[in-house]
Amino acid sequence: MSEDFFIRSFKSSDFNQVMNLWMETGLGNPERGDDLVVVERTLKLGGAFWVLEHKPTHQVIGTSWITNDGRRLYLHHFGIKPEFQGMHLATSLLETSLAFAKETGLQIKLEVHQQNKKAIELYQKAGFINLGDYGVFIIRNYQ
Ligand SMILES: CC(C)(COP(=O)(O)OP(=O)(O)OC[C@H]1O[C@@H](n2cnc3c(N)ncnc32)[C@H](O)[C@@H]1OP(=O)(O)O)[C@@H](O)C(=O)NCCC(=O)NCCS
Repeated sequence: MSEDFFIRSFKSSDFNQVMNLWMETGLGNPERGDDLVVVERTLKLGGAFWVLEHKPTHQVIGTSWITNDGRRLYLHHFGIKPEFQGMHLATSLLETSLAFAKETGLQIKLEVHQQNKKAIELYQKAGFINLGDYGVFIIRNYQ
């Protein structure tokens, strides 16, 4: 990774930039309910959140958020700002994330859209295997 970039832990003051990045990369659907309160709660529960910073402009240009439910880790909101994609920055950010995962000793899961070829290739190269024909289900609102 070039000296213009570094990976560091998320700070609450990053949140606006992070949300902009999520909106820009299609990761920030408001229905998902991801706000600063949720991020901070997951950190207290043993999760981790890294941002990739572009030194010359102090911009947050990448995010990687891992939550921990005590049984497994989940990788969420892994993304790189569009104008910085294709520079192998995702590979570096994923390496940092997986080094943390390995230290916890917990298995790590993620969800990725089947048409997101770039992300699938990246994850498979990093060692993730596809579990097959499982659907993903969620209750958004308890009525
Ligand atoms: C997925 C994403 C993080 C990849 O970021 P990136 O900066 O392009 O990735 P990198 O330059 O580090 O490349 C890493 C690997 O991704 C894969 N990749 C990148 N561009 C690719 C392309 N056009 N076609 C196929 N694979 C590609 C390759 O495996 C590549 O490694 P290689 O260059 O050695 O072959 C980025 O496209 C992104 O932020 N997308 C929007 C958000 C998103 O969909 N996140 C995943 C949610 S599950």
